[in-house]
Amino acid sequence: MKILIVGSGGREHAIAWKIAQSPKADKIYCAPGNAGIEEYAECVPIGAMEFEKLAAFAKEKEIDLTVVGMDDPLVGGIVDVFEKEGLRVFGPRKNAAILEGSKAFSKDLMKKYGIPTAAYENFDDPEKALAYLETAEFPIVLKADGLALGKGVLICNTLEEAKDGVRTIMLDKQFGTAGNRMVIEEFMTGREVSVLSFVDGSTIKCMTSAQDHKRALDGDQGLNTGGMGTFSPSPFYTQEVDEFCRKHIYQATVDAMAAEGRPFKGVIFFGLMLTPKGPKVLEYNARFGDPEAQVVLPRMKNDIVDVFEACIDGTLDQIDLQFEDNAAVCVVLASGGYPVSYGKGYPIEGLESLKGKEGVYVFHAGTKKENGQFVTNGGRVLGVTATGPDLKKARANAYEAVKQVTFEKAYCRSDIGKAIDEA
Ligand code: AMP
Ligand code: GLY
Repeated sequence: MKILIVGSGGREHAIAWKIAQSPKADKIYCAPGNAGIEEYAECVPIGAMEFEKLAAFAKEKEIDLTVVGMDDPLVGGIVDVFEKEGLRVFGPRKNAAILEGSKAFSKDLMKKYGIPTAAYENFDDPEKALAYLETAEFPIVLKADGLALGKGVLICNTLEEAKDGVRTIMLDKQFGTAGNRMVIEEFMTGREVSVLSFVDGSTIKCMTSAQDHKRALDGDQGLNTGGMGTFSPSPFYTQEVDEFCRKHIYQATVDAMAAEGRPFKGVIFFGLMLTPKGPKVLEYNARFGDPEAQVVLPRMKNDIVDVFEACIDGTLDQIDLQFEDNAAVCVVLASGGYPVSYGKGYPIEGLESLKGKEGVYVFHAGTKKENGQFVTNGGRVLGVTATGPDLKKARANAYEAVKQVTFEKAYCRSDIGKAIDEA
């Protein structure tokens, strides 16, 4: 088969690596890709939002399957464009990707179908939002409705902060049109877990659990980022939690989308908070997590192409999804200054020493090649994943591996997976 991947981050590198393991994959393309993905795929310089160009490319090359990794093209309707051209594509249509594209939609869906989530109100009028805050309890959480690069969530401790937050989102439009509407919701406490799942419209099969580290600095300090590291599985995701979520969250979400005339095919990523009152949904994403994919996919036993096809064909019930009984930790190596401002073009040294090392995977995010040399080309530069028989060994292996790679102003958190010591 000829397979096209849409995206350019560490997640897409992990997807490309996993697809390359499949005996079905004869030729892989990635648009636009990055320097690491080139090892498995021919990268083509078409942007992820250039739907017509991508579809024309897929037709010209007779692509058998397209896999969309990123949220923006999914929410923008890339799947509808491909399907209209008769192309096979893995991912939700626009009317289902709204599960991630609009937080107000997803909150209303959960309320209507009794899926546990934080209490909330939606607003499209800043005056009404400001008035609501006068009687609210703090801390409180403000969320821009639309996609905001993972940055549209503000946790406010006081009325003043919250009022400023409403102005930032709805009046100053710091997150652009994503802030035309907003959700104001109850602040929840607990551990966060990411559960990714495959969905074929009616059947859902969950992957193994993972946990992300969203803040830039050790001890969960500093600004929110796209994700500084992950581990899998989460020791806090117990059998009891799993049973609760299966009963009240996973299938309920898939059934709700189908009942709304928006059948979901693709990956649903459940962002869960394990609160003292039980698991609740923090958010939905309509795609693999980044860097969750970098720890989940190396543990997956199945041929991922079979799973993608089963989701498209509605035969996921026939897939026995299996994961290794091991653990994985991914440490993101970022460029100094990320997530605010950072330099680019720094030569990356030490990658050769990790090549072919058993249980170590270097997934590129912001890299490019200049005169045969890998150089940095983004804020999150690399995700270094290592597996091990348990989380502690996987963590030691990941930090041992990440030490081998250097570039100017490189930094990583030193406490990825520290939470496992408390489990
Ligand atoms: P989201 O993009 O909705 O996942 O929000 C980003 C981050 O904000 C989450 O990973 C949580 O750490 C935090 N967050 C979001 N909603 C809440 C909430 N209701 N209570 C506490 N923290 C939250
Ligand atoms: N790691 C969180 C996300 O992909 O949204």
